[in-house]
Amino acid sequence: MDDRRRYDRATAHLDPPLAVLDLAALRSNASGMVRRAGGKPIRVASKSIRSRPVLERVLAMDGFAGIMAFTLPEALWLVSRGLRDVLVAYPTVDRAALAALAADGRAAREITVMVDRAEHLDLVEAAVAGVPGRHEIRICMDIDAGFVTLGGTFRAGARRSPVREPGQAADLAAAVLRHPGLRLVGLMAYEAQIAGVGDAPSGNPLLARAIRWMQARSRRELAARRGRVVRAVRHLTDLEFVNGGGSGSIEQTAREPAITEVAAGSGLFHPRLFDFYRGFTGRPAALFALPVVRRPSPGVVTVLGGGYPASGAPGPDRLPQPYLPHGLRYDRDEGAGEVQTPLLGPAAGRLRIGDRVWFRHAKAGELCERFTALHLIDGDEVVETVPTYRGEGHTFL
Ligand SMILES: Cc1ncc(COP(=O)(O)O)c(C=O)c1O
Repeated sequence: MDDRRRYDRATAHLDPPLAVLDLAALRSNASGMVRRAGGKPIRVASKSIRSRPVLERVLAMDGFAGIMAFTLPEALWLVSRGLRDVLVAYPTVDRAALAALAADGRAAREITVMVDRAEHLDLVEAAVAGVPGRHEIRICMDIDAGFVTLGGTFRAGARRSPVREPGQAADLAAAVLRHPGLRLVGLMAYEAQIAGVGDAPSGNPLLARAIRWMQARSRRELAARRGRVVRAVRHLTDLEFVNGGGSGSIEQTAREPAITEVAAGSGLFHPRLFDFYRGFTGRPAALFALPVVRRPSPGVVTVLGGGYPASGAPGPDRLPQPYLPHGLRYDRDEGAGEVQTPLLGPAAGRLRIGDRVWFRHAKAGELCERFTALHLIDGDEVVETVPTYRGEGHTFL
């Protein structure tokens, strides 16, 4: 049975809009990722999942260990629900959450917060100073993994940490070690320009060549620099982990001797933006269905909802992809609408009022900010319905 019929059949008793997760696709994506990691554990990027029960399912699979969370309140909530080893990958200035972390022994054991400058340390220190019987705070340092060339005039990668060179990392590590209430446990260096940028952009061979050139150079530069940074910090203190990479770079990052674990999440759902990599393929696992509610003219149908663009530099690649049936496209003037979305193309003529159109989100977890539940499909059946973060009353970002 083809996927469209399978999804339609599995959800026939439900009314769209609705979101599903195809468990066979999820399992296949997960095992591909574990294979690519070559024996190093994968820390699951929760921003790319945003459903606690799904995170638990993934963590139950061999090869996955620990969570990479996106906010401290999220991490505190996950730990309160029994999850463990949570690295908050982005610095926090949430004083109440930091105080709650210092006050709770279990949370303080399981959660690690991110810093990239001495100011972060001072802020953490000030937030936890008045907490009676405060627990030690686990600290990870973020190292810039971006690519810089042509005398600094060309740069690729996320603009995050100012810490780039071994000397800077050693200085910050020494600053952490001077704080008695803080414990340095890890380093993280995320190469967004490799892991998050597909090297096979569709219909643009020149851009593809430029991306491959940049990524090859960046990979070499980073492997050497990451090794030097890790050595400089390990000279001062033991580290529990050195994290790097993302879904698009698992095999390359895991190969570096300095790396002890890779982070990845998007590859599990395999959203649209992950179709453009040469090194791996995946199966679309997370989809949403919208109902056909109108037919404005013979070659056009209108579905309810749909305007769920992904974050990042705005552009057509951020829109959800009308996926099944194949052969649907947006109207150039309307795009994906706030309440309604017209769809054109050969398949539009065959759709009837009440039919559903299956979409893929451009990114992974952001889909879950639009839906309260994910219906888990195995074969042609919904076997379980689980809440998203939003469904549990949480919108962390
Ligand atoms: C720090 C960090 N590590 C890893 C990742 C990779 O996540 P994913 O595999 O979902 O692309 C990201 C994504 O933005 C990130 O910010």
